[in-house]
Amino acid sequence: MFRLRSADGNVIELEPEHGESVMDTAVRAGVDGIVGECGGSASCGTCHVFVPEEHLARLDPPEFAEEQTLGYTAVPRTDASRLACQVPAADVDGAVLDLPERQY
Ligand code: FES
Repeated sequence: MFRLRSADGNVIELEPEHGESVMDTAVRAGVDGIVGECGGSASCGTCHVFVPEEHLARLDPPEFAEEQTLGYTAVPRTDASRLACQVPAADVDGAVLDLPERQY
């Protein structure tokens, strides 16, 4: 289980299925604020999320494609930024991830 918090403070709790990314789970649940336009190939930047520090430290570092795409997200990246399609939902169990104000 993890939670997504929209920029206006609404929190939704999500139960991932085995092996899903955060983006997969959010799109399956129809969450506004995660678009996932490229289907998970780290090329569109419409699944931008902010991961809390304690969970960020547990994730594998971004690969080259994710690093590149984080350079042109609609809301500028911060140190907490990741692409939800590259984050295994199991790795953020219990976390509250923040969504940017927009993905375009
Ligand atoms: S779904 Fe396109 S970058 Fe994540």
